[in-house]
Amino acid sequence: MFSFLKNVIVTAGEICVREQQLFTRSEVDFKGRKDLVTVVDKKVEHFIVEQIQTTWPSHGIFGEETGRTNLSSDYLWIIDPIDGTTSYVHQQPFYSVSIALQHLGKTICGAVYLPALNELFFADSTSGAFLNQQSIKVSSTDLLVNSVMATGFACLRAGREHNNLHYLGTILPDLRDIRRCGSAAMDLCYVACGRFDGFWEMALNLYDVAAGAFIVQQAGGIVTDFHGSNTFPDNGIIASNPALHHKLLPYFTEKKS
Ligand code: IPD
Ligand code: CA
Ligand code: CA
Repeated sequence: MFSFLKNVIVTAGEICVREQQLFTRSEVDFKGRKDLVTVVDKKVEHFIVEQIQTTWPSHGIFGEETGRTNLSSDYLWIIDPIDGTTSYVHQQPFYSVSIALQHLGKTICGAVYLPALNELFFADSTSGAFLNQQSIKVSSTDLLVNSVMATGFACLRAGREHNNLHYLGTILPDLRDIRRCGSAAMDLCYVACGRFDGFWEMALNLYDVAAGAFIVQQAGGIVTDFHGSNTFPDNGIIASNPALHHKLLPYFTEKKS
């Protein structure tokens, strides 16, 4: 499975890099006031779906841009062709291609590729998590004041009144620092390899997190919703190492001021 996923996701990444150089802002469509989609998102997803359907024609697919097909299958491929389209449109390197495979609703492998940075994250249910085929694990940071965390603001894009600005204001003073790179899949993978000590966000979709959350778990991390349960990302998502995760939860379960 690794060789199939690697070939497909790296080729998808090559399409991203090639097209980004030809790209003009006029090719940007809007799914929402700040929710961008480009011809490249659609082109990349079409390529990935075609490769999967050629190899496993009966498998189900849930792609951000093309939706759901073959849902009666035991297998479901979950695709975000470009996670971080805003970064991509603004010619930044912080975007990724994310592909996960579920069997009977349980993720069994996932890959996230950062084409501009040439970083391929992969995990499956038997051999752990890897960055460019080197084994990775979450950080051992055990104090919030020594931690660098990542987050994002999909909630603002969705125009939600109850949004992440409240949580950012309460958590940030207790952290070393925060990063907002622009790709939730990348943020999760950076937690998996210990570059970030944790990540949280609201209003994400399954395709944003399916592969990245699995890679964090296979790298020894903990991923829950804002209540410490497994209904992420619908009820928010928090990913961190075992020493920090329970120290983050109270910021999300305390009553809002
Ligand atoms: C977005 C990125 C971003 C997150 C947004 C997502 P997209 O994915 O993951 O980091 O904050 O909420 O929608 O829309 O570029 O695929
Ligand atoms: Ca996304
Ligand atoms: Ca996307």
